[in-house]
Amino acid sequence: MMNLMLFGAPGAGKGTQAKFLIEKYGIPQISTGDILRAAISEGTEMGMEAKKFIEAGQLVPDSTIIGIIKDRLAMEDCKKGFILDGFPRTLAQAEALEVLMKDMGIALDKVISLNVPDELITDRITGRRMCKDCGASFHVEFNPSKVEGKCDYCGGELYIRKDDTAETVANRLEAYHAQTAPLFAFYSERGVMAEVDGTQDVSKVTEDMFALLG
Ligand code: AP5
Repeated sequence: MMNLMLFGAPGAGKGTQAKFLIEKYGIPQISTGDILRAAISEGTEMGMEAKKFIEAGQLVPDSTIIGIIKDRLAMEDCKKGFILDGFPRTLAQAEALEVLMKDMGIALDKVISLNVPDELITDRITGRRMCKDCGASFHVEFNPSKVEGKCDYCGGELYIRKDDTAETVANRLEAYHAQTAPLFAFYSERGVMAEVDGTQDVSKVTEDMFALLG
């Protein structure tokens, strides 16, 4: 059993690296961003509510997110472990997760912080192409798919996320520094934080991440 968390700014490479962790450890990725985007395309009430926040580059309210995670962690496929991606993003979410995991009799094994400075983030996000079906991330220049417009993992169509504009990135970075970055200290205090230089090539980031996990 391995319970992991990927931590970092928007565009730091969490979704990209999650795919390699899934392949190696056979545990599911739990991306709150992917879950919210699926709810938006299904047109659910929760999705419609979340859409306003996402498109403005703001965080979705904690109560919605905590409810999503509670339901997701209770699913059968999480019994062998999981990779949290994009959650928690506020102190309230981190505290709720701690209570939830304690009740389930489990703990986090490692939080991997992918360190990327703000000045690299806009280029990464505005060049991103994402798979409509499996949520895999590519980049037109830095991490292109093998076949243009098609996902390497499932063959799905690649698209540009609505929140991947230069204007929204500024708001997302502001939310990250104000509300999420303080969680670095929260997990450092608990002795589970590990850091990887996220500015390296995708394959080198993966190599360093695997080395940390042993
Ligand atoms: P979410 O989907 O979680 O977006 P995010 O955190 O902003 O993260 P991204 O998906 O943008 O980035 P990533 O780190 O996964 O990077 P990626 O691997 O794609 O959330 C979206 C929105 O939903 C939020 O703004 C918020 O509104 C809401 N939300 C979600 N969770 C929430 C929560 N818990 N609480 C409240 N609200 C929540 O890589 C980025 C690009 O860089 C790609 O093009 C990739 O190919 C490229 N790249 C990756 N690695 C490298 C590398 N090493 N070198 C060069 N390029 C690279």
